[in-house]
Amino acid sequence: MFQSFPFNTPLIQFGFDTIKQLGPEVEKLGSKRALVITGPTIAKSDILEKATASLKSRSIDFDVNIQGRDTPEPGTHIAEESSRIAKEGNFEVIIGLGGGSILDVAKMASALLTNPGKTRDYFGKEKVTKRGRPTVMIPTTSGTGAEVTKHAIFLDTETHVKKAVASNALLPNVAIVDPSLSVGCPPAVTASSGIDAWIHAAEPYMSKNANPVTDAIGLEAIRIITRWLGPAFADGEDLEARYYMSLGSMMSGLVLNNSGTSLVHAMAYPIGGEYHVPHGVSLCGILIACFESIIVAKPERFARLAEAMGENIEGLSLREASEVALDAMYHLLRSVRLPVCLPDAGITDESKAAKWAPDAHAERRLLTRCVRNLSVSDIEEIYRNAFKPRECMC
Ligand SMILES: [Fe+2]
Repeated sequence: MFQSFPFNTPLIQFGFDTIKQLGPEVEKLGSKRALVITGPTIAKSDILEKATASLKSRSIDFDVNIQGRDTPEPGTHIAEESSRIAKEGNFEVIIGLGGGSILDVAKMASALLTNPGKTRDYFGKEKVTKRGRPTVMIPTTSGTGAEVTKHAIFLDTETHVKKAVASNALLPNVAIVDPSLSVGCPPAVTASSGIDAWIHAAEPYMSKNANPVTDAIGLEAIRIITRWLGPAFADGEDLEARYYMSLGSMMSGLVLNNSGTSLVHAMAYPIGGEYHVPHGVSLCGILIACFESIIVAKPERFARLAEAMGENIEGLSLREASEVALDAMYHLLRSVRLPVCLPDAGITDESKAAKWAPDAHAERRLLTRCVRNLSVSDIEEIYRNAFKPRECMC
């Protein structure tokens, strides 16, 4: 089988203290005027000072736009507000400094500078036709991989459904991934954002869009995150754990960007839109039920997944090795106090399964990549399985 595929990535500066590269990188983009978009927590921390010190070192004129948010996903209006500020100030480079939501706002704010209309006009695949002003993304959590992706996720404030803008034009110019910025991240955020990163590596690996480059990076990201999520959760100051979680998260972002998510994210969107739980929590509530439903299509890949998670599958049949992979996922989630089913996340109204199934099925951008062809009733059945309390199988 001779596969053809593109592989897109921003320029990446990875490592401790790479935040000092911000000024030089903005300068290389040919700009002396930058808007930093960040959130209220980062604005009060020394992280913003480190970023602005680097800009000052290269005499770059800048302003800071602080965007608060009232839901786990930013509302569509927030990107429009930031874009208006960028336009009025005639800023030439847009810098996103924060968690995944802030980076998504910064990417969309830049796109709206050169593309007419509102955020919701661009929901879907490749709707943004022109690149915006150049962007530099600096993540302060390890999870979304948004610093290296073409995606921006919003809560549509008119329909209350989570939607994605997925366009190559949104791919950042530069990603600065400095593990020291995530030091001290609280355990619950470390767990939910870290498992999002794990899923960004594992889900594309199980999809029709997998390719040899994303397979190699994805399996290594799974190995790294499975090994280091626990230590990062246990001690937010553990520098080694922070280093590897930042590395694993950035690598899984590359996998996500080039092979894309599928069933788990499609089914999590209606949950996040209705219950406003953190993205990672809605994913975990259905993760094992989703993966269980696709073993039939790719049992060999489940065996490789188990190996990447550090499990010994020698002498096991593919069916047994696949069950080992599901068990390893169960223990990974439990170890960092994440839900393994929907009731664990406090979501108990099983009648929602019938309501959510058509919405998830309508996420064709994601579901056409799924290795199993699923009808609306198949998806409803997976939701119903996710509503059942889950125990370890070992
Ligand atoms: Fe995600």
